[in-house]
Amino acid sequence: MTTIPTVSLSSGGTMPALGLGTSGLQGPEGAAIVSQALADGYRLIDTAAQYNNETAVGAGLRDSGVARDEVVITSKVAGGSQGREATRTGVNESLRRLGVDYVDLMLIHWPNPSRGLATETWKTLLDIQSEGLVRTVGVSNFRPEQLAGLHQATGVWPAVNQIQLSPALARRDAVAFNAEHGIVTEAWGPLGTREGLLDQFVLRKIAAKHCTTPATVALHWGILQGYVVIPKSKNADRLRQNLSVTDIELDSEDLSAIATLDLGEDAAWDARTHEEW
Ligand SMILES: NC(=O)c1ccc[n+]([C@@H]2O[C@H](COP(=O)([O-])OP(=O)(O)OC[C@H]3O[C@@H](n4cnc5c(N)ncnc54)[C@H](OP(=O)(O)O)[C@@H]3O)[C@@H](O)[C@H]2O)c1
Repeated sequence: MTTIPTVSLSSGGTMPALGLGTSGLQGPEGAAIVSQALADGYRLIDTAAQYNNETAVGAGLRDSGVARDEVVITSKVAGGSQGREATRTGVNESLRRLGVDYVDLMLIHWPNPSRGLATETWKTLLDIQSEGLVRTVGVSNFRPEQLAGLHQATGVWPAVNQIQLSPALARRDAVAFNAEHGIVTEAWGPLGTREGLLDQFVLRKIAAKHCTTPATVALHWGILQGYVVIPKSKNADRLRQNLSVTDIELDSEDLSAIATLDLGEDAAWDARTHEEW
């Protein structure tokens, strides 16, 4: 079984550098994929209240027979659950749907600036963490100034910031800010499928050179940068392929070529205007 590297968290402990994204994996089929992924060796599962699949993720975890404390479960507070009291209700509902008594990592899904509730939500997550219902707290899709706002209000930086990130969207300023403040960068959309990354000639050429696939190169690149990557697949072969990211070694020529694929910050979803519920 592939050994997945880990990254250290400012809150203490570690998390796997590679996990399963579950957006779109629902119902019995979703549960079966989660269970298969755990059997294959995945130990990080990324879900969210918004994905309407926490019940399926919980069922997949139980069906797998893998011990609860061997798996890092991430979920996210939905936009409609932001606010001092609503966040508490939202987290309790996530725990109930997952069928677990704690979640390893709970993130604020999007900052949603039009609501102005991100700081209150963050304060409640810190309370819930101190009560033991959530081991580690973080955010998703927060820009540097939005992260700074949370820190200014509470003195605590999120342990993780999950952002849209791949060789097609290298987000250099965002990841530098995260690193400067001890925040682990987690990459959603790490295969860059929205940006057509896997069809890029440069990536295909590097994959051919290493006798592997463009997806493996993209995921390996993320892990090499110190990010956590959470590719989603509903296909058994691709699930396993995405686990084999440590079997290759990119050289400096490969990395220089990959750097040319960055479409720039403007191509990423902008959390000042993009909001999700
Ligand atoms: N925080 C946020 O706002 C946010 C936003 C979006 C996503 N996410 C999280 O991040 C996870 C991953 O992001 P994502 O699902 O948007 O994108 P992704 O994982 O980068 O790409 C998924 C797509 O790539 C395909 N794929 C998977 N493995 C492949 C391989 N080895 N070769 C070729 N194609 C492959 C999948 O198809 P098949 O299923 O057919 O294999 C699917 O169409 C999500 O599932 C979710 O957990 C978070």
